[in-house]
Amino acid sequence: MFAKMGMKTLHVILLIFLSLFGAFCYSLPLSTRGRWIVDSETGSRVKLTCLNWAAHIDTMVTEGLHTQPIKDIVAKVTLMGFNCIRLTYATFMWTRPDYGNKTVAQSLDSMNLTQAREGIARNNPQLLNLSLQDAYEAVVDAIGANGLMLVLDNHVSKPMWCCASEDGNGFFGDMFFDPKEWIEGLTQVASRFKGKPQVVAMSMRNELRGPRQNLPDWYTNMTEGAKAIHSTNPDVLVLVSGLNFDLDLSFLNTTPFGLTLDNKVVYEAHWYSFDFTQQWQTQPLNRVCGQCADEFQREAAFLITGDNAAPLILSEFGVDVRGVNQDDNRYFNCLLPTVADKDLDWALWTLQGSYYYREGKAGPEEVYSVLDYNWDKPRDPKYLERLTILQQTIQGIMSSSLTES
Ligand SMILES: *[C@@H]1O[C@H](CO)[C@@H](O)[C@H](O)[C@H]1NC(C)=O
Ligand SMILES: *[C@@H]1O[C@H](CO)[C@@H](O)[C@H](O)[C@H]1NC(C)=O
Ligand SMILES: *[C@@H]1O[C@H](CO)[C@@H](O)[C@H](O)[C@H]1NC(C)=O
Ligand SMILES: *[C@@H]1O[C@H](CO)[C@@H](O)[C@H](O)[C@H]1NC(C)=O
Repeated sequence: MFAKMGMKTLHVILLIFLSLFGAFCYSLPLSTRGRWIVDSETGSRVKLTCLNWAAHIDTMVTEGLHTQPIKDIVAKVTLMGFNCIRLTYATFMWTRPDYGNKTVAQSLDSMNLTQAREGIARNNPQLLNLSLQDAYEAVVDAIGANGLMLVLDNHVSKPMWCCASEDGNGFFGDMFFDPKEWIEGLTQVASRFKGKPQVVAMSMRNELRGPRQNLPDWYTNMTEGAKAIHSTNPDVLVLVSGLNFDLDLSFLNTTPFGLTLDNKVVYEAHWYSFDFTQQWQTQPLNRVCGQCADEFQREAAFLITGDNAAPLILSEFGVDVRGVNQDDNRYFNCLLPTVADKDLDWALWTLQGSYYYREGKAGPEEVYSVLDYNWDKPRDPKYLERLTILQQTIQGIMSSSLTES
């Protein structure tokens, strides 16, 4: 039936539906209750089914604004069945005037990104002369206006493509990663978006990594970061990431994080085909899938079990949507049932079909994206169909079924 309707018709129906019922699905803010994220008011489960959207790369401009009006991009996210965006940012945009106080036009001009600038002038002219900070806020507002929730993700300190072990953004004390400046950035963001109910969570840092990693500095700095966010904006969930590119939280098994922040602490982990094992094609799928699922359980998913269970969001996963990467294809056949079985909250990598600029190139394509290069249509509708199993709330607690613990 939907296939016969135009995208526009479907769109209108959906918007009517959202405006009638969207506001009643849950009321923000969110909290944790055992392993679930819940609506603070009713205690019912709210499952975050997010899409990553990058705004942390060299330009610091949210990607894709050269392709069409922002509200059209956001409407596509809703139509594709996601209920939230993990919007990335770079610390320097909030802490250094020579970064954050540039306008969108100045930022693109300084990198000779003429086509991107012209595209934004055509499709989102209202953003062109805003400071990067104000433009980011405009994106947050546009996302909220369409009923989507947001996780604001501190992806890097210095804006650039992420993540390499020795890129200076990997761990506390790295060249660009000053712990004090990081706290300052988290505090700025917590304060700036306080009172915007669509911002339901802030993640502390994407993919800590590199030779400087150590547990004592992890515990002290992450504790300070969490407290800084929570004391500035007590409404948001605080996402705590581990070591080794967001794979490893296993150390919390012996030494728990120790903060609950009034039921606001959520853990986050990543899982791609190139994590854990490279054996996707050399072993039977059952065996390699079992091994990876066990490893994911040991390193992160154990957190949703036991007496001190807490929520875990799989905040990055995804594949080359063109289907040409055999490792990715086999991994995805393993990941889908594993994540559905645990009924985790998640954020798929990724929305953006292209970048203004990435790793020395203007206008490169992103093949892990749900949208095509022009941000026009789904790259592969079958990919979206396969994701619907994760978009359902499979298990969960309703307010009526809450039991005293
Ligand atoms: C940008 O400028 C405004 C006022 O002009 C100031 O309040 C803000 O702190 C500056 N941003 C940064 C990152 O310094
Ligand atoms: C932009 O173009 C100017 C003039 O051609 C050149 O001098 C400058 O190095 C370029 N900047 C970048 C970041 O490519
Ligand atoms: C942005 O500012 C430039 C220069 O100040 C001006 O020429 C241009 O018209 C402005 N663009 C918009 C869309 O406001
Ligand atoms: C944070 O990490 C740095 C390493 O750069 C370390 O010196 C410091 O003691 C850690 N803890 C705090 C609270 O800054």
